[in-house]
Amino acid sequence: MFNPAPMSEAYHTIIIGAGAAGLFCAAHAGGRTLVLDHAAKPAEKVRISGGGRCNFTNLDVTAANFLSENPHFAKSALARYTQWDFIELVSRHGIAWHEKTLGQLFCDGKSTQIVEMLLAEARGAGAELRLSTPVREVAHADGRFRLGTDAGPLTARTLVIATGGKSIPKMGATGFAYDIARQFGHAVTETRPALVPLTFGDRFAPLSGVSLPARAFNARAGFDEQILFTHRGLSGPAILQLSSYWREGEAITLDLAPGRDLFAFLRDERQRAGRRALSTVLAGLLPARLVDHLAPGLGLAARLADQPDARLREIAEALHGWHLTPTGSEGYRTAEVTLGGIATGGLSSQTMESRHLPGLYFIGEAVDVTGWLGGYNFQWAWASAHAAGTAI
Ligand code: FDA
Repeated sequence: MFNPAPMSEAYHTIIIGAGAAGLFCAAHAGGRTLVLDHAAKPAEKVRISGGGRCNFTNLDVTAANFLSENPHFAKSALARYTQWDFIELVSRHGIAWHEKTLGQLFCDGKSTQIVEMLLAEARGAGAELRLSTPVREVAHADGRFRLGTDAGPLTARTLVIATGGKSIPKMGATGFAYDIARQFGHAVTETRPALVPLTFGDRFAPLSGVSLPARAFNARAGFDEQILFTHRGLSGPAILQLSSYWREGEAITLDLAPGRDLFAFLRDERQRAGRRALSTVLAGLLPARLVDHLAPGLGLAARLADQPDARLREIAEALHGWHLTPTGSEGYRTAEVTLGGIATGGLSSQTMESRHLPGLYFIGEAVDVTGWLGGYNFQWAWASAHAAGTAI
């Protein structure tokens, strides 16, 4: 058991995790606040996010853009701290931004501008920041949390766990939040890598680098965006999105020409240019390397004029509904987020406070609220951090 040393430093609030949610919570928390992180630098995931430009929110945020065992849980926090609030903050800090696609807002400059803004906001609220400080133990007695850290014992009335999920372990991601949650009687839902490329052995290695707009779907969800063939399998926004709705062993389906009637197209082309090979005609629509890859299986070397309607229909259906079973996913090594987490039933949706232990809060990715690709995970980090910070 951890023995509190008589010389413990006392805070009103200790926030563990100086990432997106932890720093933003510190910016709103009252009283003497300390933010602790085991990493040497704060908010590293913000820095690497959005390809270095941080997709910090989305113009169109609804609860439908989030996965959770309780799809209603996120609504309250998201409604009380909206994308417009964060846009206003970013603009107030003079950070220029633009919409890239589908409402996704990125910095014109570097994502480190957002890190600097979060640090400035937290410091402005008087919070202290201690990096490279692993937390060894957490205990609770007499209305106080007692932390054993490498920098000595600390106490606080309020403890906020903002240590994120398990994705990208080499950046310091841990299951710490789930361990603390369980320690204090919280349930944790099954956690899985999400927003992650799907693997297919070396099946698509020859197509590596080919990308095209497609619809990736299964029985649960479907996304119309780019797909990208890689040495290891499939990536690109449509695949990353679908990965959050996919489970090992299941097939996914690709529509390689979403919104087009391929049968009608091939029939018209047969009329217009019947002497051409199917592969030549399809290469006008799809990347030539992909057509070459599909040609042997679908018999695309044949002349268009020789194909009856039934055959054209068969080819069209195969391209609109290419069923594929991934061998797996790239896992936490490259996943952008962790699906699942601390069960929302044990938390107040208004404040993120534990229903089991007053004074204990869980925010950000650690909670069982997982956003789509497109700035939603940061919006959840800001909103849940604001809900907790203003309640403390
Ligand atoms: P976050 O992971 O940000 O912070 C957790 C902090 O806790 C870290 O500083 C960590 O060091 C610390 N910590 C962990 N364990 C600890 C322990 N045991 N003791 C002490 N400290 C500990 N989202 C989005 O909306 N738009 C985007 O553009 C992107 N892009 C993106 C790219 C990549 C490559 C990744 C991996 C992820 C994204 N995301 C994203 C997701 C987004 O980064 C993520 O959802 C948020 O950073 C989650 O914020 P949190 O504060 O909850 O955790």
